[in-house]
Amino acid sequence: MAVDLLLGLQWGDEGKGKIVDVLTKNYNLISRFQGGPNAGHTLIFDGHKHVLHTIPSGIFHDDALNIIGNGVVIDPVIFKKELENLDKFNLDLNAKILISRKAHLILPTHRLLDAASEASKGKAKIGSTLKGIGPTYMDKTGRNGMRVGDLELSNWEEIFDILTQKHLKMLDFFDVALEYNLAELKAEFFTAVARLKEMTFIDSEEYLHQAIKSNQTILAEGAQGSLLDVDFGTYPFVTSSNTTAAGACTGLGIAPNTIGEVYGIFKAYTTRVGSGPFPTELFDADGERMAKVGHEFGATTGRPRRCGWLDLVALKYACQVNGVTQLNMMKGDVLSGFETLKICTAYEYKGEVIEHFPYNIEPENVKPIYKEFKGWKEDITEISSEAEFPKELSEYIAFIEKETETKISIVSVGPDRKQTIVR
Ligand code: IMP
Repeated sequence: MAVDLLLGLQWGDEGKGKIVDVLTKNYNLISRFQGGPNAGHTLIFDGHKHVLHTIPSGIFHDDALNIIGNGVVIDPVIFKKELENLDKFNLDLNAKILISRKAHLILPTHRLLDAASEASKGKAKIGSTLKGIGPTYMDKTGRNGMRVGDLELSNWEEIFDILTQKHLKMLDFFDVALEYNLAELKAEFFTAVARLKEMTFIDSEEYLHQAIKSNQTILAEGAQGSLLDVDFGTYPFVTSSNTTAAGACTGLGIAPNTIGEVYGIFKAYTTRVGSGPFPTELFDADGERMAKVGHEFGATTGRPRRCGWLDLVALKYACQVNGVTQLNMMKGDVLSGFETLKICTAYEYKGEVIEHFPYNIEPENVKPIYKEFKGWKEDITEISSEAEFPKELSEYIAFIEKETETKISIVSVGPDRKQTIVR
């Protein structure tokens, strides 16, 4: 049985949480493979709004098990709070969540290093969520990290202390004043580790191997988006993991030939939170309207998101890098009422017109070239079938499908599970 992937194709916040939640009924296992508490996957159902950071979005489905894979970085303190926020739902969390021993831990000093690094960058800052993601992945690739499996060793506190001391020396290199109480941070971490140790730790690559052999259905849930990928995103304004399809292989230990469907999630327009280039960004009333109607505020940080038109050059690039087999278009309802809609179909790049995503998309190099579409006036939040789509929405969808050569199999017209049209 194949492993299906679900990935964001823009700069994150595409609405992956909602789609995983809608799709989970088809899967036995939902697995996160990269990122950590920088992610914020919002699920809305039965009048509840819930934001998940590290826990896979299958948690609310009775029959699904949820795996946190080796590619994920876990902050025990944030994870404990996340578990506590789920208490009211009466879920058997210790049984429903399985954690890879090879996942790396975010220590309190990783968060401090993130803060110091960002502060030292001044205007060049990345706009990190400051959850310690970058420093933790640096320790992983630098072969210094602390892993979940280390917590099963008798000397884990010693491992923690050695790494913490190393980080404190590194903090001295930054000429940045940070206020913190190490004893408090350590006590909070140790309390959270005690909770983490009540969970089930697994060798997730072996677990998944057996699951594939016994024909279980598996969905791998990506976090952030393809344009934040450390290799293929808008470097250095990216996150520190591979958010693209290849990341699912390394972040779960599954082979490329086990991958089945690749669901690519995108918004009908584009948003970005944090710094970095964004060719179709709007600084006018249209952008403000998208932000307001789309409630475009970061689910993890609450920061306002930058908004702009759909960038087809970037979308095609993401489809290509990920091998997307089906597209899911989110937040179509936010575009209702615009007189004219625009889609960027090419870039003017250093005096040439190009249709591929170049090395450098800074505003001085790239100017978007747009195709205009007539907008639709109707509120589409109540519709339940494709037959009810306004003509202009069908035209907008058909153009994206033609250009990406990929079917849009789901159109989302509102935040609730029910506002999902399968085509
Ligand atoms: P970091 O991963 O927290 O270091 O943040 C690096 C960049 O990725 C920043 O621009 C963040 O705003 C962005 N980022 C990280 N996680 C997310 C996410 O889940 N959604 C959207 N942007 C994100």
